[in-house]
Amino acid sequence: MGMSIEMIKPPAEILYERELRALREEPQGLRPASWLLSPVQVRDFIIGREQPALLDGEQVEITRKFYGNDIQIERAVVTLAGNRGLMLVGDPGTAKTMLSELLSAAISGTSTNTIQGTAGTTEDMIKYSWNYAMLLDKGPSEQALVPAPLYNGMKKGILTRFEEITRCPAEAQDSLISILSDKVLSIPELDGGVLFAKPGFNVIATANVRDKGVNEMSSALKRRFNFETIRPVDNLKMEARIIESQARSLLIHSGIEIEIDTDVVELLATTFMELRTGMTREGYKIDSPQAVMSTAEAVSVYVQSAMTSYYYENKGVSLDRLVQNMLGTIAKENDKDLAVLRTYFSKVVKDRAQEDGIWKEYYREKKWIN
Ligand SMILES: Nc1ncnc2c1ncn2[C@@H]1O[C@H](COP(=O)(O)OP(=O)(O)OP(=O)(O)O)[C@@H](O)[C@H]1O
Ligand SMILES: [Mg+2]
Repeated sequence: MGMSIEMIKPPAEILYERELRALREEPQGLRPASWLLSPVQVRDFIIGREQPALLDGEQVEITRKFYGNDIQIERAVVTLAGNRGLMLVGDPGTAKTMLSELLSAAISGTSTNTIQGTAGTTEDMIKYSWNYAMLLDKGPSEQALVPAPLYNGMKKGILTRFEEITRCPAEAQDSLISILSDKVLSIPELDGGVLFAKPGFNVIATANVRDKGVNEMSSALKRRFNFETIRPVDNLKMEARIIESQARSLLIHSGIEIEIDTDVVELLATTFMELRTGMTREGYKIDSPQAVMSTAEAVSVYVQSAMTSYYYENKGVSLDRLVQNMLGTIAKENDKDLAVLRTYFSKVVKDRAQEDGIWKEYYREKKWIN
């Protein structure tokens, strides 16, 4: 690649810098004001396309980054060109944050104009605050104003990401209502202070359905968003592909150059999908643990296991490490989940272990679950 990125987790616009640059070089189709790419290109950037793009005479592959409902991606892109905000809701680990980063990087060229919603989020952190030294010295002025992400988005005509919006107190959420309807921010401290949003501004919020009820959103705010529910991956092959590609890039990023073991990936994807859905691939009902069995967790189990095998045994991922790391994910909430996993091994895995192969080896590692 020849690209050295000195960051633990580079933002999407850096990670996919070449793809984005190459797309921007293309003759632009129809696109909303201030957008760096057309809706077609934004979609293609997220779900990939066959035709490579060109950059300085070299071909750049436009890779698929999100696996799921492609029509939903088109809908989400179009929402951002319209008057309402985009709300991505769903179970933990379904790539809501990833999608919101990809959309912002593609449309506005930056994904870091972001409010991180917490129980302590205040209006100041959303709109703007003041540099108090300057405020006392010179009184309220534009120079003394410290912009927060919403102000930035409106001023520059870029997207503002609002992560975990339902975790914020109601007052903080409500401060969005008038801005999303009128696209104007009033700054009462400045004489006649109003900021009109430039075209290109909009809000992408994410919310985790498991957090809901903590601060149920007001219906006034809900009406200002189009909701898209992101569903967990429901296809084993797709899930295995996500685990494989994400694990590969995370390991390379950690400086670990080892092959991804696709048999182990498939085993892991099968276990996660069966436990998540409460159904084996043969169609038998089984118990589901309470712990989140998301694709993101599966990626992290694989990466942890591969790193452990690499550093302690100097070899590729092994099944004992896999099961040991799975325990950390599945059994972190309660002992009942441990029992669910044990039962899974003594029924489902045992059945498959009757034939030689990876399931037989997997079954041997049941010894770690106690
Ligand atoms: N459908 C998918 N396509 C591609 N990658 C996926 C998909 N689902 C999950 N992933 C992987 O899972 C990771 C976790 O995603 P992300 O952090 O965006 O989830 P989230 O929905 O925001 O979770 P949370 O609710 O916990 O914040 C992604 O970075 C990606 O590696
Ligand atoms: Mg998230």
